[in-house]
Amino acid sequence: MRVITYGTFDLFHEGHRKLLERAKSLGSHLIVGVTTENFDDARGKLNVQQSLMERIQNVQASGLADQVIIEEYEGQKIHDMQKYGVDIFAIGSDWRGSFDYLQDYCQVIYLDRTEGISSTLLRKENLGVVRLGIVGAGRIANRFMTESLFVSGVHIEGVCSRTHESASSFKNKHQLKYATTNYADLLENVDAVYLASPHETHFEYAEAAIRRGIHVLCEKPLTLTAAEAVALFDLAREMNVVLVEALKTAFSPGFQRMVAVARSGSIGDIRSVDATFTKLEKGDLRELQGGAGGSISELASYPVLAIVKLLGGSYRSLTCYSHIPRTSEVDLFSRIDLLYPHALASARVGLGVKCEGDLVVGGTEGYIYVPAPWWKTEYFEARFEDPTRNKRYYYKFDGDGLRYEIAEFISLINGGQIETYKMRASESIAIARIIETARQEAVVFV
Ligand code: CTP
Repeated sequence: MRVITYGTFDLFHEGHRKLLERAKSLGSHLIVGVTTENFDDARGKLNVQQSLMERIQNVQASGLADQVIIEEYEGQKIHDMQKYGVDIFAIGSDWRGSFDYLQDYCQVIYLDRTEGISSTLLRKENLGVVRLGIVGAGRIANRFMTESLFVSGVHIEGVCSRTHESASSFKNKHQLKYATTNYADLLENVDAVYLASPHETHFEYAEAAIRRGIHVLCEKPLTLTAAEAVALFDLAREMNVVLVEALKTAFSPGFQRMVAVARSGSIGDIRSVDATFTKLEKGDLRELQGGAGGSISELASYPVLAIVKLLGGSYRSLTCYSHIPRTSEVDLFSRIDLLYPHALASARVGLGVKCEGDLVVGGTEGYIYVPAPWWKTEYFEARFEDPTRNKRYYYKFDGDGLRYEIAEFISLINGGQIETYKMRASESIAIARIIETARQEAVVFV
């Protein structure tokens, strides 16, 4: 009899060993499927601590598996049952009912789960829980709360907002420990902060936190000048503190894959990047106020991220056109054109102006098309002159997508690293430089 079972097997524990023992005793040959990081990501399991190789080694070291395979996609189990001639599928009782569909292919057995132990519990014990404070109590801070529930290893302790009313109503809504209007008080009680306050406050808040050795996840745009971004990253390095710009697109699996496909030469050399992000609903009044408001400061981080990821930060020249009607304090529609040594890029943004929100990456052999809303990349195509070569890519983008950046931030803190390749300091600085220059040098039409 051939038996198969599947799992993540992170931080291999007694519950795993007992399950494998019982599964093995059901037959003569035990196959164990270990899940890949991508598959775990896609099913919302975001904080797995060990790599696939380590987890496979754990299973092998138990001496219970006769064969180890990798599980990497939804629906693979049906394929495996047939491919490996499986007689029995066994899995822990926490999955009772979920795999009844496999009864058409083999016998399905749910084995009692061992009480009192799990990878989740061990991760908590090993790493503790990061105590996080939120600064700001607006729309994005609310979304952050919902999304943080999908990430283990983080606990939102309190909120700091400009008024007592907004802070305490946020605290009550999300059942936090405390609410304050005093930022220094918040810093006393946390290991990390998420800055979702108005743009112009980011620098001051981030600097104060970093100086105290507190990790910072800061909403985009991190700063409105490159010099400020450089200063913050220098300080973070000096203090050995994590500083990450919370540009959600950068952390999403689909966007990362799109960049990798484009940069791996599949469409030839990249010659153009065109990205658009516009909103009809103008959102917060704050976005329309002078100083830090406007379509560039509010939205350009997204298209400029795509440009910087695809072409780098070393452009030769920048031209910006901004529509600032006489009735407005700020730009409502802008286009930033960048000339690179071998490519052209364009970022379009609008508040109260609507255009197609897609992304097109042109190359010497084909192009990549990401339909709107490209910044929540779930799907893209590589297209060629010969349509038989076209290829389609699908990814999962769960919820608002903030869970990906939260998971990365927490895993940096836990792993003792201060930078992630998903959103590098140099990339945040390049984005800040482009936003600053565009706002300064915009050719205005009314
Ligand atoms: N398992 C078990 N007893 C436990 C924990 C896990 O029998 N105490 C079983 C699961 O039911 C599954 C297999 O071990 O059949 C692999 O589970 P996995 O999800 O890798 O382990 P968990 O500890 O449940 O992981 P997590 O806490 O991340 O969900």
